[in-house]
Amino acid sequence: MMKYDYSNYHVIVSGGTRGIGRAIVEAFLDSGARVAATYSGNEEHARKLEEERKGFPLKIYKFDVSSYTETEEFFRQYDQDFNSLEVLVNNAGIRRDSVVGMMPQEDWNAVLAVNLTGTYNMSKLGIMRMLPNRFGRIISITSPSGSMGIEGQANYAASKAGQVGFTRSLSKEVGKRKITVNCVSPGYIDTELIADLPAELVKQYKSQVPLKRFGKPADVANAVMFLSSKEAEYISGTTLEVTGGI
Ligand SMILES: NC(=O)c1ccc[n+]([C@@H]2O[C@H](COP(=O)([O-])OP(=O)(O)OC[C@H]3O[C@@H](n4cnc5c(N)ncnc54)[C@H](OP(=O)(O)O)[C@@H]3O)[C@@H](O)[C@H]2O)c1
Repeated sequence: MMKYDYSNYHVIVSGGTRGIGRAIVEAFLDSGARVAATYSGNEEHARKLEEERKGFPLKIYKFDVSSYTETEEFFRQYDQDFNSLEVLVNNAGIRRDSVVGMMPQEDWNAVLAVNLTGTYNMSKLGIMRMLPNRFGRIISITSPSGSMGIEGQANYAASKAGQVGFTRSLSKEVGKRKITVNCVSPGYIDTELIADLPAELVKQYKSQVPLKRFGKPADVANAVMFLSSKEAEYISGTTLEVTGGI
């Protein structure tokens, strides 16, 4: 990985205890940043990260990003533990796939609540901490599902397209304060989120990737590290695809 120096950065990564989020947390820790990683319920992964990164400036917080009240409570705690915020990564996300005709209302609501409302909750409270500093990076992890549409993923696709529209609008609101707002759109990345895909489908999906492999969480982390950098200061309101060429 390219070497960045983020030793004066304070970073929040939602859903930072496993999968893509964990790779982002590790990349920032290895670049000297102080990191707040959040999760919602999987204690095993949270404890594992804590254990493996003992001695690093890492704090782990458990709350549901879809709840505004819980997000407010998190930020109150964050302010006591960290005194600044340079980078916010909206990574927490879930999938509850089914075709629209069979999609339970709860699955529609849950996916929109975590992926889209969670992005709003975190960004709204995060931006208030960046504005006075006249610097900040907000990066949301969207998906090609939002731009292409994928059968059985109308809820997920709508939430991911929503993140892109949200990002474009917010980037216009805060550009004058030198805050950039972007999305990273990973293709198929080997994590638990897609571990339930049948082998046949995995084979079919892999054959559609021009680079002929699924991505690694670190591939996505590399894009986030770049967009967080000083060198990326003129990039805002856009989506960087990390899809192996799909
Ligand atoms: N993997 C892919 O192929 C792929 C492709 C495109 C986009 N993405 C996007 O990338 C992001 C990360 O995906 P991933 O594959 O790394 O997923 P993952 O392995 O399933 O991890 C999801 C993370 O989000 C957290 N989370 C879930 N619901 C939450 C909630 N209500 N409040 C707070 N945190 C919550 C989880 O916490 P717990 O551990 O406590 O459950 C976990 O840390 C998601 O936004 C996903 O849509 C993934």
